[in-house]
Amino acid sequence: MLNIKKLWKNGKTNENLEVRIESVKRQKMPKHIAIIMDGNGRWAKKRSLPRVAGHHEGMKVVRKITRLANHLGVGALTLYAFSTENWKRPKLEVEFLMKLPEEFLGTFLPELIEENVRVTMVGHKEHLPKHTRAAIEKAMEATKHNTGLVLNFALNYGSRAEIIEAVRDVLIDVKSGIMDPNDINETSFAQYLMTSELEDPDLLIRTSGEIRLSNFMLWQLAYSEFWFTDVLWPDFDEEHLIQAVEVFQKRSRRYGGINSEES
Ligand code: FPP
Repeated sequence: MLNIKKLWKNGKTNENLEVRIESVKRQKMPKHIAIIMDGNGRWAKKRSLPRVAGHHEGMKVVRKITRLANHLGVGALTLYAFSTENWKRPKLEVEFLMKLPEEFLGTFLPELIEENVRVTMVGHKEHLPKHTRAAIEKAMEATKHNTGLVLNFALNYGSRAEIIEAVRDVLIDVKSGIMDPNDINETSFAQYLMTSELEDPDLLIRTSGEIRLSNFMLWQLAYSEFWFTDVLWPDFDEEHLIQAVEVFQKRSRRYGGINSEES
C-alpha cells in the first residue's frame, strides 16, 4: 500500500497538498490522463546543461506522477515519450531517449509491480532498438495481471499514421468479408486504433507553454478537457497534477449537448 508521505520530495510533508489530494479523491476523477511532456530541452538550456540532462530529469518526474496518479485512482496515464517525428533529432539525443525506458524500468519495475501498476505501450514497437523494446516487453509481461493504474507509454507514436493504418485494416477486413461497411461507426473504428484497450483520455495536459497537439491522439482527444501550463516538464510535480485535476473537476463536459439544468 502506498504511503502518501513517500510521495513528497525529501520525504517532507505538505499538509495543504495532502488535504487537496483527499478532496479531489472525493470528486469525479479523470479515468484516463494523457500528458505531452514538453520542455526538457529548455529546462536543461536554462541551466547550461546538455538537452539530455533535461530528459533524464524528466524521467524522474514520470515516477512521481505515476505514483500520484495511481494513488488517486486514475485508471490510465498515457505519456508521450517519443513521437514518430522525434527520430529527426540528433543521433545522440535519440539514442539517449531510447535508453530511458530501460533505465526507468530497470530501476522502478519492482516498485511498479509492488504498486500494482500495469505497463503498456502504444506506437510502433518493431522500429524501436532491441534493448528499448526488450525493456518494455519485460515490464509489460511482468505487470500484465496488475489491476491498478495502466501506465501507457506512447513511444514511436504518431496519430495520423495510427489513423491511416486503422483505415487500411478496416478496408482489409471489409474486403475479406469480416467487416460489413454498414457496421463501421465510431465504436467499431476505435477498435482498430492502437488504443483499443483504453478509454479515451478525459484530461490532456501539456507542459512548457506550447498550445498544440503535435500529432498526439487526434481521434482519442476529441472530447477531452485540455490543461496547458508554462511549467517545464522536469519542474512538473504533484502540485501541478493536482491543479490540473482540480480544474478538470470544475469543468462542465457537455459532449456537444447542454447541461441538464439548462434544459
Ligand atoms: C519533449 O521535450 C520531450 C521529449 C521528446 C521526451 C520526453 C521524455 C521524457 C520526459 C522521459 C521519458 C521517460 C521514460 C521513462 C520513457 P523537448 O526536448 O522537445 O523540450 P524543448 O521543447 O524544451 O526542447
